[in-house]
Amino acid sequence: MSETLRNQPTGWMSHCWRQLTGENPFSGDCLPSRVPLFRTGRPTLPFPHLWNYKEPIKIFETFYCDAGTEIGAARHNRYLYIAGLPPVLLSRDPAVIRAVLSATGDKPGQFDRDTAPTAGIARATGVDSLLYANGAIWRRQKRLSAEPFSRANLFQPEKFHGFEQTFRKTVSERLEALRAHQKASGQKTIRIQLEAEIKVVMLEMLVNNFFGGRVAYDELRGRFVPALESLIEHMISDTVAPMSQAFYRLVTGRNAILRRRQADFEALTDIALAGRADGLGLWQQFQSDASNDALRSNIRVFLAGAMEATTSFASWAISHLSHALAIQEQVFDEVKGMTVYDPDNLMSAVTLNRVLEETLRLTPALYFLPRRATVDTWIETTDHRKMYIPEGTQIRLDVWHANRCEEFWGREVTGYPAEAFAPERWEFLARKGITSREMLHFGFGHGPRFCPGRFLGLLEVGLVVGALVKLFKFTAVSERTGAKAGVSTKPADGVLVDMELRA
Ligand code: HEM
Repeated sequence: MSETLRNQPTGWMSHCWRQLTGENPFSGDCLPSRVPLFRTGRPTLPFPHLWNYKEPIKIFETFYCDAGTEIGAARHNRYLYIAGLPPVLLSRDPAVIRAVLSATGDKPGQFDRDTAPTAGIARATGVDSLLYANGAIWRRQKRLSAEPFSRANLFQPEKFHGFEQTFRKTVSERLEALRAHQKASGQKTIRIQLEAEIKVVMLEMLVNNFFGGRVAYDELRGRFVPALESLIEHMISDTVAPMSQAFYRLVTGRNAILRRRQADFEALTDIALAGRADGLGLWQQFQSDASNDALRSNIRVFLAGAMEATTSFASWAISHLSHALAIQEQVFDEVKGMTVYDPDNLMSAVTLNRVLEETLRLTPALYFLPRRATVDTWIETTDHRKMYIPEGTQIRLDVWHANRCEEFWGREVTGYPAEAFAPERWEFLARKGITSREMLHFGFGHGPRFCPGRFLGLLEVGLVVGALVKLFKFTAVSERTGAKAGVSTKPADGVLVDMELRA
């Protein structure tokens, strides 16, 4: 770090001074450029407020509006610097995203996960969860959850077989119900929004198969899914505008509804924990003397977060396939003879795996990853560019736009346009000897805070998508499907498709 930077005072006054003089608080050869607070002709303002917080992707888009005139790193790394506050850095540069994620953790000088965009989640689930905590608490929670979620554990043939059987039974029962519904309608095709169906199956697999609970489908659908949905909505508004939302609930009498939803969430958490005493589901693999109370925050995060993330992932995969009928047929050819979804079978379904990889690239469930610089920090990218990030900087790693940027994922690099759904791009990259470990899309994050639920999520989503394709042919109703974004992204039309039973 240069002497000038090191000796500069920090705090409100110095931020104000730099903001007024236009001094760039970052340094190095990978310098971000400043985003003006007000400018006409942009989709919205570059920060969330009451009228735009439901369109976070549009807020990020605003950051890049006039970035085309910038040169090099400044086109993809932008910062907002206002009102005496520390800077907000937004990056769609995959090398910077990778460097920040690798340097996140509990060691001195490493980045924290920024808790500001998840304050509402923490109020609903608890502050000591693996998702929310930083430092020593995060490390302890990570150690606790490592074993039950590990690849070695879940994909170990005997254990895998147990989960696979129960998961498959759950999925087949739901699809059978859909099949019966279609037959009863007497129509060749039915029009349906699949997201609602997927959500219940995902929660059912998690609660009943993974945690060993015994909740009836109707109760999941009628009580617990609506409770989680409305709490997730509440978490978002409670993050962006806690005071005005509290006032709104008070005057509209909605506090009573919120309390009922919270009680339902607690009841579901109790059900998930109840299997621990008898070693049901994942609890067989859980070795710890931590009390049930010490685990509650994590269980709440697993229930709400995993339902949300797996629903997003499966909904997008099915939505993409509903627009790409030739690829849907290729997946059908792979799964039509498959009766057991064991690791070998799943690995051999090459197109299905590419569909899942491409889904996470183009439409990641978690569209941005928040970090915070706890001290003045230098990062270095794998192509040896350096950036100095001042203490207190709020970092938004914009995975959504990084993965759609032609420069990084376009025709020249991957053989296909960045904005297209093209599972074949992974074959193109493989032929060039480039693996998905090198071309990171960050769909499950990267580095120490990588998603612990990756193998479970892949298993569940692979199973749901494979089983659906095996039974039905489905076609998108709209020509193009946009995205809605909250805690995660989802197809804006709720996966509206025309479904037809296969012969
Ligand atoms: C299959 C769909 C899933 C996707 C796309 C997904 C995505 C992600 C991503 C991108 C992160 C990194 C967040 C960050 O770096 O800030 C993450 C972290 C996390 N995921 Fe997942 N996830 C999925 C499923 C699951 C499941 C099934 C569980 C648990 C049952 C889970 C639990 C977590 C937790 C607890 C973290 C925080 C880890 C930490 O901070 O150390 N996820 N997930």
